[in-house]
Amino acid sequence: MEFTENLSENRKSAEERASVLANPGFGDFFTDHTAVIDWTADAQGHNGQWHDARIEPYGPISMDPAASVLHYGQEIFEGLKAYRHEDGSVWTFRPHANAARLNKSAARLALPQLDEEAFVESLRKLVAADIDWVPTGDGEALYLRPFMIATEAFLGVRAAREVSYRVIASPAGNYFGGELKPVAIWVSQQYARAGRGGTGSAKCGGNYAASLVAQLEAEEHGCKQVLFLDPFNDNAVEELGGMNVFFVTKDNKLVTPALTGTILEGVTRSSVIQLAKDRGLEVEERKITLDEWRDGVASGDIAEVFACGTAAVITPIGVLKNGEELIGDENAKAGEVTMSIREELLGIQRGTVEDRHGWLERLV
Ligand code: COI
Repeated sequence: MEFTENLSENRKSAEERASVLANPGFGDFFTDHTAVIDWTADAQGHNGQWHDARIEPYGPISMDPAASVLHYGQEIFEGLKAYRHEDGSVWTFRPHANAARLNKSAARLALPQLDEEAFVESLRKLVAADIDWVPTGDGEALYLRPFMIATEAFLGVRAAREVSYRVIASPAGNYFGGELKPVAIWVSQQYARAGRGGTGSAKCGGNYAASLVAQLEAEEHGCKQVLFLDPFNDNAVEELGGMNVFFVTKDNKLVTPALTGTILEGVTRSSVIQLAKDRGLEVEERKITLDEWRDGVASGDIAEVFACGTAAVITPIGVLKNGEELIGDENAKAGEVTMSIREELLGIQRGTVEDRHGWLERLV
């Protein structure tokens, strides 16, 4: 797909950029440009065309107040990162996996399919325009946020016939801020994240909106994230508000909840599974309940727990707070297996560890 370019005449100054890059945090600062592709359905609303692929200055989106996304939440998104290598080149990690997942989410939310190559090209063009924003620090990257929204002004409840795909970029350090250290997680007892047949495995804004009340509860209890359980399935562990969960057993097995349709098929999750298998670790994707977590920590059968996702990379979990009950240790150190897989993954992404699986794709 051909992109036209309208580069910003109002870029942030080198000083402003340097001050952001000195301490990027997560999600607070945005680069100078955005990638956009629009889609319009045919008269019957069934088929449509992507058109007007472009790079334009970053700025507010002008939208009709009746746009369906504002009323019915017809929206999906992705998250991936661009990594600076030592020679200055910029790479991304498994972009086709994100493109495929975007299309799966699109199918569930009645949004149009986007060609995988157009997806990758949108990242390439945006990162080329904003290359100076790709951080160089340890564990830092340019977070890329592709998303698709229903822009048609129409209040009847049906799939929109006008859609916009966009990508924005934001320099990112540690998702949880500051130095990497084990985080505390709050168990949501009142709210579930998803149900059978729902949108749990799609990456749509609604899933995250529904997690926020529980996330507020977590923060009130000094926790960084919320853990969702399936209350109709023995309190099976599902996922955190924005990341998947892994357990390392004392006999070096990796256990993670199976993909049942209610949890997100994380790209980091599947990469961790592959890296663990490469090291000869046994990996079990299965049901794991809150009781098993509690008993495993008490008996020592569960040696480490960690969260993973593009934003979180791999973050050790110290303690799980279930009301008054504490499972784990608030002052726990990061586990060895956790940190070693994290280092390997970051090394592949930064080009310092061999990319055995061909996961990297050069952007610039
Ligand atoms: C990601 O890890 O990329 C996510 O989308 C999680 C969160 C920031 C929403």
